[in-house]
Amino acid sequence: MANFGEGWDVFCSVLFVLLALHDVRSFSPQTKRNVLLFVGDDAGFETQVYNNTVCKTPHLDALAKRSVVFKHAFTSVSSCSPSRSAILTGLPQHQNGMYGLENSVHHFVSFDGVRSLPVILKQSGIRTGIIGKKHVGPESVYQFDYSKTELDGFPIMQVGRNITLMKQFAHEFLSSTDPRPFLLYIGFHDPHRCGHTQPQYGQFCEKFGNGDPGMGKIPDWVPTTYDPGEVIVPGFVQDTPAARGDLAAQYTTISRLDQGIGLILKELELAGYTDDTLVLYTSDNGIPFPNGRTNLYDSGMAEPLLVSSPAHTERWGHESNAMASTVDLTPTVLDWFGIPYPDYTLNREAVRLTGQSLLPVLQREPSTGWDTVYASHNLHEVTMYYPMRVVRNRRYKLIHNMNNLAPFNIDQDFYISNTFQDLLNRTRSGQPTHWFKTLKDYYYRPQWELFDHQADPLETTNLAGDRRYASVLSDLKEQVLRWQNATNDPWICAPWGVLENSGLYKEKPTCMPMDNGL
Ligand SMILES: *[C@@H]1O[C@H](CO)[C@@H](O)[C@H](O)[C@H]1NC(C)=O
Ligand SMILES: *[C@@H]1O[C@H](CO)[C@@H](O)[C@H](O)[C@H]1NC(C)=O
Ligand SMILES: *[C@@H]1O[C@H](CO)[C@@H](O)[C@H](O)[C@H]1NC(C)=O
Ligand SMILES: *[C@@H]1O[C@H](CO)[C@@H](O)[C@H](O)[C@H]1NC(C)=O
Repeated sequence: MANFGEGWDVFCSVLFVLLALHDVRSFSPQTKRNVLLFVGDDAGFETQVYNNTVCKTPHLDALAKRSVVFKHAFTSVSSCSPSRSAILTGLPQHQNGMYGLENSVHHFVSFDGVRSLPVILKQSGIRTGIIGKKHVGPESVYQFDYSKTELDGFPIMQVGRNITLMKQFAHEFLSSTDPRPFLLYIGFHDPHRCGHTQPQYGQFCEKFGNGDPGMGKIPDWVPTTYDPGEVIVPGFVQDTPAARGDLAAQYTTISRLDQGIGLILKELELAGYTDDTLVLYTSDNGIPFPNGRTNLYDSGMAEPLLVSSPAHTERWGHESNAMASTVDLTPTVLDWFGIPYPDYTLNREAVRLTGQSLLPVLQREPSTGWDTVYASHNLHEVTMYYPMRVVRNRRYKLIHNMNNLAPFNIDQDFYISNTFQDLLNRTRSGQPTHWFKTLKDYYYRPQWELFDHQADPLETTNLAGDRRYASVLSDLKEQVLRWQNATNDPWICAPWGVLENSGLYKEKPTCMPMDNGL
């Protein structure tokens, strides 16, 4: 009997292992579970959902009533393509290789070996679609089954701002007879600036399709206009007529984005998917105003985030204080579908996700954890090398400006805007700027910036040199370095050392000092 018992045990163990293996290999995703992900372009908090009562966003407001609203969500990087790459891979830009913008002379792409969300999903039997702005490459890494983007030859104005056309494409995708569950990614180009590329339509393309002579018509759009006198000027923007004019134009395109969300949610409902689709709304980076986009101050890093799950109705309409990051979106979608993240290496280093699924937060407000996020920036345009690494917890933020001896750069799109020209003109002529900093301070930053958010939400007082915060500073420095190491950051020794990690140093990567005084 003992022998039989032993044999039986072994048999059972083998059977168990075989079953477990079988389980992984023949994994079939849960049916009737879909994802619809909306990404705004440079969108911020100009919605009633976040207490802005001037900008009209009835569709986002309605979505919020079916969502958990994250009050402390942050982008992993404040630049378009790098941010979209982080959303679609769960990896910070320095780990996935998308160091700057994808388009034109900037020409950044992720590493060929990156396993992106759409590709993992496709391999697991999920149908994938993208409509609107894509702005990530290479194509092989960011493949979607259904694709109507600027990289498929469609004008970005049409696929990203013409909400009638976007609705029609969504209808086409959603009426497919393909029985597989789906991920549909909608990349609005609203409310991005426009003065740099299509000035004939206004600073934010707010006139595009409004029916005025020469502007064309977007049949489903009912334009909402705003009086510059009524807009809410964020604390990090100068309160001047020029900036107010820009904000009013921005609001008009936010209202267009909002109506686009309404149209697409209606298509989802008509196709019968409302009750089995996880809907998410966020943005890629901060608003295109001074101290916003391309900065990792909170004005460039904090994002709207709504997560609406038909399977987690308990907390619909609630707010969460959990600190969330855009690198949490890939783990959230994988969790929703019950698909594991693959085991693999990039540039010979093991790849591990540092984000986590947001689904548990939809069930219960966490009492511990969810109190730290990280961010990482290298470039925006190819000329704008300004590497930064950031750790942000509930109270403090530490920014490491690794190239701080060079001036911070201004991108082409923002430079030509009325808001920035106004700052330049006023600074040049010695008039009051009505801004909370000087251009000189904006350009020339210290290597370390430490802010206490409790006392100083606008991040105006750098505490890095204050002895009373010495231990806070050293703890945060250590934390950001640990995260850089965990995410295989090639910049881990910058700006004072050279990383040696091959040959003699293969087993023990080491920062070798340059003696440059940093
Ligand atoms: C909006 O303001 C109310 C009242 O101050 C506050 O309780 C709430 O948390 C705010 N909501 C968001 C999303 O910031
Ligand atoms: C938007 O798309 C619709 C549908 O394709 C088209 O009829 C309309 O002319 C487009 N509007 C503009 C402003 O291009
Ligand atoms: C800035 O100054 C230039 C040159 O005087 C002028 O043409 C432009 O209109 C000004 N722009 C703003 C926004 O003040
Ligand atoms: C990263 O951490 C590993 C494991 O602790 C260590 O061996 C390695 O030297 C660290 N890399 C750097 C550049 O500090």
